[in-house]
Amino acid sequence: MVKVIPASRATPEHTRVNDASRVLKRFYVAERQIMRVLAGWLVKTSPVEIKFQIAGDLWQTSRNADALRTRVLELRYPRRDVDKKYDVDVMAFTAELPKAESLAEFLAGVYDVALPALVDAYEDYLSRADALNDAPTVYAIRHIVADKRLQIERMRDALHNAPETVERWRDYLRRYLASIGGYSGMADKTPAPTDHPCAGRPEYAIPLTTQRDERFRPSLYHLPHENKYDKAGAQAWKRIESLDKRVAMQVWSAISHFNEIWAAEVPASVLYEIHEQPWDFYLDLARWAWDEARHSMMGFRAMQGWGWNVPDLIPYGRSQYLAMAPLPPAQRLALLYYYEEGLLRSGTKQTEIKILESAGDDGSTHDMDYDWADEAIHVSYGFKWLKHLLGDDNAGQAELKRLTDEARAVMADFVTAHKDHPEATLAPYFDKLYGVVEAMTFEIPDDGLDISWAPVVADESVLQEL
Ligand SMILES: [Fe+2]
Ligand SMILES: [Fe+2]
Repeated sequence: MVKVIPASRATPEHTRVNDASRVLKRFYVAERQIMRVLAGWLVKTSPVEIKFQIAGDLWQTSRNADALRTRVLELRYPRRDVDKKYDVDVMAFTAELPKAESLAEFLAGVYDVALPALVDAYEDYLSRADALNDAPTVYAIRHIVADKRLQIERMRDALHNAPETVERWRDYLRRYLASIGGYSGMADKTPAPTDHPCAGRPEYAIPLTTQRDERFRPSLYHLPHENKYDKAGAQAWKRIESLDKRVAMQVWSAISHFNEIWAAEVPASVLYEIHEQPWDFYLDLARWAWDEARHSMMGFRAMQGWGWNVPDLIPYGRSQYLAMAPLPPAQRLALLYYYEEGLLRSGTKQTEIKILESAGDDGSTHDMDYDWADEAIHVSYGFKWLKHLLGDDNAGQAELKRLTDEARAVMADFVTAHKDHPEATLAPYFDKLYGVVEAMTFEIPDDGLDISWAPVVADESVLQEL
């Protein structure tokens, strides 16, 4: 026999450091996978508002995953296995989420099943955690739960309109999650729903085409610099420019921002398709995708602020995505980097801001100012990760140039191949828009700004025409 005094207090079961880090790693894997799934479906999602939300949720999820990953590393430092040996059950469950057969199913699966169950799992963790000993986890999870609740709440309208048939998919995912003992793995496991009608669907693949929101008329392009064959579109744009170059810049920057959604689709699809990279790669691409979606939202908000019927007046293009989708992921990233680096190098953003300031357009100036700040970050992401993917030497440099030149040629070839396509002319949009814009113009004192500006384009022969 030995002697002791009573325990200072009782502690809940399975809350020691080893248990906590094991469960938190499962949560990290779940968040990381949900981030990837959202990125994969960003391309496939057409309704503007839902697409914007998915982009935002994808970024928040990357932050949530990062907080958990950091905490796992803190518990039992130096555990280097945080990005090794992912729990196969959590991987298998989350791999089902993108296999939805419609957007309604996808949203129901993620926002009605996967996320509410994750919130429950976090609440369960919080209810058992020692708020003193495990305080950093409690802090992180409370914030993650707040994010998730808002995400679910914001998607409520879209979920509300889901057809009854999605219930079958929800049922399958609920049963699947129960079969792995929930996210924590601590609940009793039930048999896997292998006999369910939704079981055994094929892997999700990023689509090679994209459809824009059906409220918009289908269009390949959005501004005249993209398509050198569209003379009528360029003429119609010149009429808007003839009102004043300031007016043209106000309109151009809003349409251009709104159409930056393709620049969100590129990093999101790369995030989905490139595996086994350092965690920061995914964190940066998630942010890049969200920033570009925000730039698109800036344009949408500006045009709504002017009271425009955006789907009726504005071309919502998809040529960049269509042309680039068949290229390997690193090459798509290289072309995006080419555009962004060109914008910064040529000082385009500063010029645009000066013109918008000269127009006295506070909202558009503000948008462009923050856009500029974001673009500087993206150029550093592109530089860092293309170097990582292609090699930090002369061969890597040569490969980057080769990929970029080839991708620019692919863009130019797409334009040529589609020069007679019925969706390739912008004149109908700009003719109508001219009337709307002209009716809104008013006079302000001339500040004498000397306006000379050119967009960055893949096919530089276009600039001679503009
Ligand atoms: Fe952007
Ligand atoms: Fe950017």
